[in-house]
Amino acid sequence: MKKIIITRRLLKESEEKASKTFDAKLNGNDELYSQSKLIELSEGHDAILTSLTDKMDEETISKLPDSIKVISNFAVGFGNIDLEAAKKRGIAVTNTPEVLSDATAEIGILLILGACRRVPEGVQAAKESSWKWSADYLIGKQLTGTRLGILGMGRIGQKIAKIAKSLGMIIHYHNRSKLSDEKEQGAIYHDSIKSLFGVSDVLSICCPATKETENLINKETLEYFPTGAVITNVARGDIVEDEALIDALNRRKIYAAGLDVYKGEPNLNPGYLKIKSVFILPHLGSATKHTRIAMANLAIDNIDEFFKTGNCKNKVN
Ligand code: DGY
Repeated sequence: MKKIIITRRLLKESEEKASKTFDAKLNGNDELYSQSKLIELSEGHDAILTSLTDKMDEETISKLPDSIKVISNFAVGFGNIDLEAAKKRGIAVTNTPEVLSDATAEIGILLILGACRRVPEGVQAAKESSWKWSADYLIGKQLTGTRLGILGMGRIGQKIAKIAKSLGMIIHYHNRSKLSDEKEQGAIYHDSIKSLFGVSDVLSICCPATKETENLINKETLEYFPTGAVITNVARGDIVEDEALIDALNRRKIYAAGLDVYKGEPNLNPGYLKIKSVFILPHLGSATKHTRIAMANLAIDNIDEFFKTGNCKNKVN
């Protein structure tokens, strides 16, 4: 039986599956392993099942024992892993695409609604009984007829587009390449971010975090948007330069932000705290039982597939 380390606690059902499939070292306390602890634990093991909280940078990967052949990330995003460093060491890196697209798209839509319809202010006022109905009280932005820009039209972007379209939004997108008509479903392609941002009343960030997308939302690119646009992010915090977004929100260049992810999670840039129009969530994209079990099953199956066949369809390096 192959020996694997699982760096974070999984749901019971997933830990049972892992223990049936492998000689699995579980993390019952869910403690965050330091680099040295993870390296020490990895001795004599064949694979590591990591989470997005594990920073698998070049240094960590270079110190892993030769026995480690697979890093299976319990996430679709793999910005926490240095893919090149893993490749150099002959370590396959895998991820969990598709199974979390529905759950993450739901949160993507929630961010759009929450930011546009002033949910944070509304919740606070309701809890404080500090409001009274009036015709102009907490007026928000209606989605019907509003242009939604989708940055990154992968599986999650396409699902958000489909739901948003049913809410009456007009869909525009930028992607590495134009989609087929069937996948596009009437969405309008832009070959540059400048062109996309220029027509985005609301932006939904759905692209992966890479060197190219790091700080893509910055002082300069925020100026491309129509005044009063809404920025939402269901992808990764590294794509947004927080200081620039905070400044744009304070100047009302940007009307509101809906963020499920942000830099330095769980520590939020304090600049966001003072802004009423920020709708913020603690990285809930894939947080449903059904999805977390499906993700863990896939992360386990990815390791199994690799050892049985020497390859894995969800290998990303
Ligand atoms: C992912 O899989 O990348 C999600 O962000 C995890 O919640």
